[in-house]
Amino acid sequence: MSKRLETVFAGAAFKNPVALASGTCGFGREFNEYFDIQKLGGLCSKGLTLHPCLGNDGIRVWETASGVMNSVGMENPGIQHFIDCDLERMNALDLVNIVNMGGHSEEDYLEGVELLNQHPLDLLELNISCPNTKAGCMSFGLKAEVARDIVKKVRAICKHKLVVKLSPNAEDVVALAKQTALFDTVAALVAALVIIPACFAYGLDVGSGPSLLFVTLPHILQDIPLGRLFAVILYTAMVFAGVSSLQNMFEAVGESLLHRFPKLNRKAMLALLCVICLGIGLNMEPIFKWGPWMDIVSIYIIPIGATLGALSWFWIMKRDELMEEINRGAKKPSGPVWYNVGRFFYVPCAIILCCVALFLKVAF
Ligand SMILES: Cc1cc2nc3c(=O)[nH]c(=O)nc-3n(C[C@H](O)[C@H](O)[C@H](O)COP(=O)(O)O)c2cc1C
Repeated sequence: MSKRLETVFAGAAFKNPVALASGTCGFGREFNEYFDIQKLGGLCSKGLTLHPCLGNDGIRVWETASGVMNSVGMENPGIQHFIDCDLERMNALDLVNIVNMGGHSEEDYLEGVELLNQHPLDLLELNISCPNTKAGCMSFGLKAEVARDIVKKVRAICKHKLVVKLSPNAEDVVALAKQTALFDTVAALVAALVIIPACFAYGLDVGSGPSLLFVTLPHILQDIPLGRLFAVILYTAMVFAGVSSLQNMFEAVGESLLHRFPKLNRKAMLALLCVICLGIGLNMEPIFKWGPWMDIVSIYIIPIGATLGALSWFWIMKRDELMEEINRGAKKPSGPVWYNVGRFFYVPCAIILCCVALFLKVAF
């Protein structure tokens, strides 16, 4: 093989820069049946934890339109078993032997490193995407300070060359939800405090549909004190609320279309969805039959859906799984107070409001 492909990475000499990623090749046994894995530059072991781990229940690998989703859940035989049964064979291969190690607590990582310190290997890859069960199940790799802390402690005792596998997930679900709630609430407050009283004062019908918002209100707002300020607040909140709703709607429909018709072009499909929605939207205002349909959505579907969602989050989903999802990418991880408020306050409120909607026919 050409010497031009030789690569030194993190102090390890690879004969070429091709390595199989952790979890995609087990411990290198199975792939040998298909090709000589020693042609590779490196091989990264399945992620190992201090104790054996059975992994997740249910479907673990799912092919999608644009790749593969996996939810293996760190199934592995544990570090000691790997040392006893696989390490020597992997070390004997003519390639860089990378051992991937994760943990569910700081102690797990440190004890795991101590064990691996006693044996030769080429590179230790630290997997910091695992949930920290002692800190609300937030992954170590999602917050810079937490990641820095665990890497610093591991590096202090690690005798091997060390690389860190960073986590690509960094969205802050709770912060995004708070922003959406803020804009929605601002829009609702402006409507309640300014628009509805103004409608009564001007003798207008508060349920007159889109024309109220886009034709009548601009006129009213011009006449009332601070009207322009209210207009800016209201319409900014409406734009943000509208864009985030569209994003939600397109995301789910688009992803399922791409899954069903993998040959569809993503941009063309999105453009088509935009045209369809715009076409429907422009024609909605003159169609008087929409009113009752929209009432069914806002009186029945939204409250029932929101209540089922609340129940499944706080009473059906496992607490650890919920906290992991919620804290992914969060600057400030939510803890037991958030969980208990959700379980014992938010869920009952959702049920009460759902009953109000259903029995009093109030739209939400
Ligand atoms: C079935 C499967 C199992 C995986 N298991 C692990 C693992 O145990 N440890 C780890 O750090 N990454 C694991 N990964 C992540 C891969 O190592 C890799 O980072 C990921 O597939 C992203 O690379 P890609 O964008 O080239 O697919 C796994 C991926 C797959 C598909």
